[in-house]
Amino acid sequence: MSVLGTMFRTKSVELSIEDTESSGHRLRRNLSALDLTVFGVGVIVGTGIFVLTGQVARESSGPAVALSFVIAGVVCALAALCYAEFASTVPVAGSAYTFSYATLGEFPAWIVGWDLMLEMALGGAVVAVGWSGYFAELLATMGIELPPSLAGEDATFNVPAVVIVLALTAVLVAGIRLSARFNLVVVTVKVAVILLVIVAGLFFVKSANFTPFIPPARPTPAVEGLKAPLIQTLFGLTPVAYGVLGVFSGAAIVFFAFIGFDVVATAAEETRRPQRDLPIGIIASLAICTFLYVAVSLVVVGMQKYDRLNSSAPLAGAFRAVGQDWLATIISVGALAGLTTVVMILMLGQSRVFFAMSRDSLLPRRLAAVHPRFGTPYLITIIIGAVTAVLAGLIPLSALAELVNIGTLFAFVLVSVGVVILRRTRPDLPRSFRTPLVPLVPVLSVLACLYLMLNLPAETWLRFLVWMAVGVVIYFLYGRRHSRVEVKSRVPVT
Ligand code: ALA
Repeated sequence: MSVLGTMFRTKSVELSIEDTESSGHRLRRNLSALDLTVFGVGVIVGTGIFVLTGQVARESSGPAVALSFVIAGVVCALAALCYAEFASTVPVAGSAYTFSYATLGEFPAWIVGWDLMLEMALGGAVVAVGWSGYFAELLATMGIELPPSLAGEDATFNVPAVVIVLALTAVLVAGIRLSARFNLVVVTVKVAVILLVIVAGLFFVKSANFTPFIPPARPTPAVEGLKAPLIQTLFGLTPVAYGVLGVFSGAAIVFFAFIGFDVVATAAEETRRPQRDLPIGIIASLAICTFLYVAVSLVVVGMQKYDRLNSSAPLAGAFRAVGQDWLATIISVGALAGLTTVVMILMLGQSRVFFAMSRDSLLPRRLAAVHPRFGTPYLITIIIGAVTAVLAGLIPLSALAELVNIGTLFAFVLVSVGVVILRRTRPDLPRSFRTPLVPLVPVLSVLACLYLMLNLPAETWLRFLVWMAVGVVIYFLYGRRHSRVEVKSRVPVT
């Protein structure tokens, strides 16, 4: 087969579904729509709301950070409508990777799979660092000071972040059922804490803190050179923070807070009725989180002037600022619990994507072995845990959240394109959930994701392009030669 032929060979949906039944590579099905929604909220509510709200209000959006959340939420809603159709049509582990294999071809699928590592493994590391910040803050309230070189954003080696990642790796190897139950308890605590912030915080809101709602645009060193949003550089604008442009660049960062609804789709193989339950899980968890974010961010910027919000623990910090230390402590405990599930589910999602890629032999197939007793892809889980732990130990939070965002937005673009392609190439497939107004919604989703990507700094684009280039090299050196997909399984593209 020609190089182009191999690069764009597709793996039929039927073959993907059949693979999930192959012995030794089969995951257990026992999740319901409610489990998936809990799973979704478990991974969505995390560092985005608990940490980035403060940073974005201070540096880009001012009190209008709530508007940034609305913008990011709308972009995600468009992408979620596309994800839901895909997840209900191709209910197989691997999320955007599997969807792309069925539609765009092997090379784009590899690119997506490689790209999803930015979202999940790197995202998990970022959240583990956020976890460590709240952990240090909680210990500090008990009078125990951790040295800054061992915890928090500027740590040389972030010990608590590494420990939490390794502990969660062990939980994941032991099996998803244990994890799902554990997740339910933690998600309940997390949502309760968020509601507490909203309700208790309302008593301390001062209307003066809301003005100016969108602070006037102004150039600052924080957005100079490669740190400027690409869109401002491309259009020859003087890079600015705040103002309407600042609200949009803020949206490109708080987008991180929504990451995770797509991870629900990676649990397809473990869902009892994926066609019905996946779309419910994805859309319900996204809707719940959008509501919580807008409410929390309005309350927090109302409690404390935006330029004084704490950068590592803004929700707890706002309560401390109004003299409510005990509430701040409760919030820190809730945040810790909440961030724990986020790290765990991101790693779980990552292991399922790798599982699908190695089952297809784009990565070494022996990695896809399932543990005889636990029924989990243990080898992959352990490798991912080790990599995430190293990243979490060494890497600071803020810049990397932007890299996670660009990678995720790129995956959303490909999924949205894939929905339109699959409607044409396989109109016959049963779709229990259909994206409304195709092709309008997918096209809007692509444009909206690209627009947010352009609002990320030029240096983030450079890192992203380097990462993707490495992925391309690996594909040509390994994946293309080992791929299991044969010519006979190709679905002709019309
Ligand atoms: N959405 C997740 C978070 O905010 C990744 O931490």
